[in-house]
Amino acid sequence: MSIARSLLLRAADSQWLADQMSRRSFSRRAIRRFMPGEELADAIGAAATLKGQGMGSLFTRLGEGLTKQSDADAVRDHYLDVFDQLAARKLGTWISIKPTQLGLDLSVDKCLEYLHTLAAKAASTGSSLWIDMEDASYVDRTLGLYRELKAKYEPVGLAIQSYLFRTPRDIEGLLPLKPWIRLVKGAYAEPAAIAFPVKRDNDLAFFDLSLKMLDGVKTYGGLAVFGTHDIALLRRIIASAKERGVTPGQYEIHMLYGIQPVAQRDFVAQGEAVKVLISYGHAWFKWFMRRLAERPANVTFVLRSMLS
Ligand code: FDA
Repeated sequence: MSIARSLLLRAADSQWLADQMSRRSFSRRAIRRFMPGEELADAIGAAATLKGQGMGSLFTRLGEGLTKQSDADAVRDHYLDVFDQLAARKLGTWISIKPTQLGLDLSVDKCLEYLHTLAAKAASTGSSLWIDMEDASYVDRTLGLYRELKAKYEPVGLAIQSYLFRTPRDIEGLLPLKPWIRLVKGAYAEPAAIAFPVKRDNDLAFFDLSLKMLDGVKTYGGLAVFGTHDIALLRRIIASAKERGVTPGQYEIHMLYGIQPVAQRDFVAQGEAVKVLISYGHAWFKWFMRRLAERPANVTFVLRSMLS
């Protein structure tokens, strides 16, 4: 892992920096590169624009690692309302959520209960519920939650990280469930004992896992989602899908709001199914630091925002 990436990921845990950044107007200007605004209405406006360009969307309200059960209750209630609002607007938007935002650190059982409630709501409103993957200490519990949900509801998806050595086995174990899997490279600082420290190795692993997922979709069904902005990699995956007769819709490309927007539109023009994950909310600090760590050159636009 590069020194810059590792420093930025370590800084993500600094409460002092979080307080400082949250108070400064320059950081608000800088985050606008990755989010249309902090309010749900901002996300809805962006989703409508994307829909007009032939793209789907997913929403996530930022916040993680909750320490009070009442906060988790409020998150559940918030998303129940969002599902209704999305259905009323016929936006076709999905929801993506971190288990610690539903109190996984407080109670696995309660977290599962809330996920059931949200998955049922997603199914009844024609939407889909996705579970993000957090750092490696959560993977076993998150897989357990997903298996429970998938046994009951069709439109539920799970993010899986290619940088973890365990991931080929995890994917193989999930395939018979006809899973909806979003493969991502992984955004956390993990030790070299459990995850690829070198980006090139992770990129190769991502491609190998993509083939496994495409074969899985063909054999079992489900949905293979490739969540990356790595255009060359996506082109190879699309070519491999074509070779296998796996078509857009059986697989999708998901990217983050504000990253590679031109490529997002180009893929749509080529007939690919593309969705954009839109974040909103006030608790953006940790998430923003992970976006900087993914591309340390991004720090320059933070500096530019300070000067402007
Ligand atoms: P890579 O890092 O190879 O970048 C390829 C190119 O994309 C770069 O050269 C640059 O042009 C552009 N790029 C990438 N990141 C950028 C950034 N921050 N700013 C500007 N340009 C950038 N992670 C996780 O651990 N758990 C999860 O649940 C999710 N969920 C998730 C959903 C979706 C839809 C996406 C796209 C990503 C995630 N991630 C995630 C994040 C993921 O793990 C990873 O950190 C980022 O996608 C960055 O890696 P790339 O695959 O884009 O490629």
